[in-house]
Amino acid sequence: MNSNSGKKINLLFVCLGNICRSPIAEGVFKEKVEKAGLSEWIQCDSAGTSGYHDGHLADIRMRRLAENKGMQLTHLSRKFLVKDFHDFDYILVMDNDNHSNLLSLAQKNNLEDMMRKVMLYRPFDPERGEDEIVPDPYYSKDEKAFNEVYDIVDRAGESLLEFLVKQYGYTIR
Ligand code: 4NP
Repeated sequence: MNSNSGKKINLLFVCLGNICRSPIAEGVFKEKVEKAGLSEWIQCDSAGTSGYHDGHLADIRMRRLAENKGMQLTHLSRKFLVKDFHDFDYILVMDNDNHSNLLSLAQKNNLEDMMRKVMLYRPFDPERGEDEIVPDPYYSKDEKAFNEVYDIVDRAGESLLEFLVKQYGYTIR
């Protein structure tokens, strides 16, 4: 018996390239939502502020890591669009540059009020310590940086899901 509140929510994970951090954040979170039996209520997507990798699959290093965890990353990179401010309820950004890029876009389009939907993702990580951001692994030479991103979005995803369950009164499986 599912006594869900009836509120459907849309989440968007955002980074710069939409090939490393936000696609893994999306993939990991989707898996948690599915496991909780909430896919009908919570939907998510990801996007990048740059558009540098439009149409590309996630970085091969992130896809390999996901595969080792039993997950296929099939998302194709896309640029964040002005309409995303309207289409999503929560926009979770990985770092302060992502935040200021969205702020500039919102200001250009007279959508400053939409910035209330935009929040840093890292504060959801209970092990964040003093760190405010999900670090960009793209230029890193070793796998450690990718593993670290995975661990962060895994922990942050747990807390985000708990937050949404409380906020919207969802019943989990
Ligand atoms: P992401 O990482 O923002 O986590 O997807 C990056 C991917 C590509 C680039 C920078 C960061 N780039 O400069 O192409």
